[in-house]
Amino acid sequence: MPIAPEKDLDPGLFSLSRTLNFHLELTDKCNAGCPMCGRTVEMDRCRPNFGKVRNIELSLDVIRRNFPPDFCRRVDTIDLCGGLGDPPAARECLEICQYFIDNGIKLILSSNGGLRSEDWWGKLGDIFSSNSSFVEFHIDGLADTNHLYRINTRFSKIMANARAFLDTGANGEWHFIPFKHNQHQLAEALSLSRKMGFRSFQVIDTIRFGPSKSFVYQMPDGSIRHLEPSSGDIVSLASGKNAPQQVTKAVDSQATQPISCKSANENRPYIVADGSVSACCWVEGSDDEKHMYSRAKLSHEEHNINRRLLQEILLEEPYRRIYPQAWEEGCNPVCIRKCGLMRRNTRTEL
Ligand SMILES: C[S@@+](CC[C@H](N)C(=O)[O-])C[C@H]1O[C@@H](n2cnc3c(N)ncnc32)[C@H](O)[C@@H]1O
Ligand code: SF4
Ligand code: SF4
Repeated sequence: MPIAPEKDLDPGLFSLSRTLNFHLELTDKCNAGCPMCGRTVEMDRCRPNFGKVRNIELSLDVIRRNFPPDFCRRVDTIDLCGGLGDPPAARECLEICQYFIDNGIKLILSSNGGLRSEDWWGKLGDIFSSNSSFVEFHIDGLADTNHLYRINTRFSKIMANARAFLDTGANGEWHFIPFKHNQHQLAEALSLSRKMGFRSFQVIDTIRFGPSKSFVYQMPDGSIRHLEPSSGDIVSLASGKNAPQQVTKAVDSQATQPISCKSANENRPYIVADGSVSACCWVEGSDDEKHMYSRAKLSHEEHNINRRLLQEILLEEPYRRIYPQAWEEGCNPVCIRKCGLMRRNTRTEL
């Protein structure tokens, strides 16, 4: 269990005296080429955008140095997800998971499930089943549709990997993004997930279409496809029960909204595969973030766990007063959108 050490007098966004959580990107490498992912260029056959993707990863050494056992005791959960990569692509993924779990941390690992062998997923299952850690398998369809979004993945391999993981008794969730091309398979995927022993099935309502009704991309064979959003209340249709009502917010209004910082509320900083620390995955790399560092008269390069210790970085500006001041002044567009107007993907459990 996390312990509460000495009290911070002025904790800012992040505090070492509250239970910590982290969002951690182990790597920016990935086997897949999902057209709406930040790592791909949709009109270049969904190949990686090498302006962003550097094929980097965090090492076990760096993790050990920044997460010593006494610090781990303050950490409850780490989400191994990130913005550009698939965690199993990191060379030391298993060893890093073992290290965190040995130190009492619960892990949530997000993956397309297509990399690595059944043997590897069995080992991950053995590690994860020793506490309440789980894997989110992001599978958007069945054998004939999943690869239309999860480009370059093979459904049969994903199923074999998921079975090897679940057979160890470890917990897995199936996450499904409905589009027009796979929405008719929701009920079948739900039933398959139950048979396989997934403990939960979540439907993700994506906001990535924005106002547009179609997203054009090129398949690896050069053919052009149009990704279209799902239609109607497919959650109710698939589950036979009414979907929980989403609260409709006045999202078109740019009027000042109070900002409730998700990261500060959850005491959950973001660490990128290059080692840099950020307030969250939404502001990471944004103009908002550059603005915060320039107001703090600091170089973001100093906030990197390859160079400095995480525990020091978290208690420094811009995480103390600079972010809260910016929210008061309404000058952080990303923060207003995500934590004022709540423009986020939503999920519904079936
Ligand atoms: C960049 S991925 C990193 C983790 C892993 N590679 C994966 O896909 O699960 C981060 C998250 O983005 C989600 N994602 C990908 N395409 C999406 C879309 N069009 N709308 C909403 N979420 C999406 C993934 O399912 C995953 O939860
Ligand atoms: S599997 Fe994840 S990281 Fe890889 S392309 Fe798809 S969304 Fe991006
Ligand atoms: S978008 Fe801004 S307000 Fe929201 S979690 Fe990130 S830093 Fe906090």
